[in-house]
Amino acid sequence: MDLKDKSLQLANGAVVRFNELVLCTHYPIEAIRGLNVMKLEVKRSYVISAPAHMPLRNQYLSADEPKRSIRTVFIDGRPHFMLGGESHIAGITGDTNERYSRLAHELQETYSLGAPTHHWSAQDPSTPDCVPYAGPISSSLPYVHICTGFRKWGMSNSLASARIITDVITGVKNPAIELYAPDRTGFGTLLFQALKTTGYVAKEFTSGHVQRTDTPICTHMGCRTRWNKADETWDCPCHGSRFRKDGSVLEGPATRPLDLSD
Ligand SMILES: Cc1cc2nc3c(=O)[nH]c(=O)nc-3n(C[C@H](O)[C@H](O)[C@H](O)COP(=O)(O)OP(=O)(O)OC[C@H]3O[C@@H](n4cnc5c(N)ncnc54)[C@H](O)[C@@H]3O)c2cc1C
Ligand code: FES
Repeated sequence: MDLKDKSLQLANGAVVRFNELVLCTHYPIEAIRGLNVMKLEVKRSYVISAPAHMPLRNQYLSADEPKRSIRTVFIDGRPHFMLGGESHIAGITGDTNERYSRLAHELQETYSLGAPTHHWSAQDPSTPDCVPYAGPISSSLPYVHICTGFRKWGMSNSLASARIITDVITGVKNPAIELYAPDRTGFGTLLFQALKTTGYVAKEFTSGHVQRTDTPICTHMGCRTRWNKADETWDCPCHGSRFRKDGSVLEGPATRPLDLSD
């Protein structure tokens, strides 16, 4: 990708020239590296569901710990009670079955429902100050926009981010542009959290290489992956890249497959 030249090469070899590039690949893919991207923390979370007699009237999110959300989902026309929670930094644990089991236990004990019929998990990045990054990645690349850090509030944050990026590109004044700017700086919580995330990545890079000498090395920036038992994927604790059993990329920022030959 030659960003200065406003061109990029697709996986099939075709070269695309652009005036404005909007990179909305969840965690910005590895072609764009920088401090702001390093500041993203990726949290994984779990959801299970089981058939229920009637739908809930609302959706609910707990204010205290452990965090839980409940709502109704209709599957084949039948209401299912959906329970979510068990969030953790992506790639930090291998025994992900344990997370599903805890939710399943709660489903039966607290809500008197049967065994779950569906379960899945997903992840989302957060920024240090919890406000997404939407807009030019830096003042030196004003035509490359990123859009990330929705912190599991994608339905509202994606709309706000799309509006902001549209306004930046079309030159419309919008006070939120500065607030969401990916190259914003800050003090207090923002700086503290950024250092925490960067420190965690540095620690994981070192300890991963000492403790997990037999797991493949992530092709993003070289951290050791962990085997995720429930999903059967290689997950990277540093920036959340995920790879299928055969090493192919499931989720970025990595874009290149794992080398499983070692
Ligand atoms: C458990 C859980 C529950 C959630 N619940 C809610 C909720 O109740 N309400 C809510 O508002 N939000 C919720 N969210 C958050 C929401 O799902 C996310 O914020 C949102 O999906 C993120 O959108 P995105 O566009 O950044 O990324 P994505 O939706 O992941 O889209 C990224 C796209 O980029 C593509 N892509 C990636 N890499 C490449 C590449 N190298 N080349 C080409 N394309 C690529 C992908 O295929 C994908 O289509 C939840 C998240 C989780 C984890
Ligand atoms: S995702 Fe960055 S090193 Fe693996």
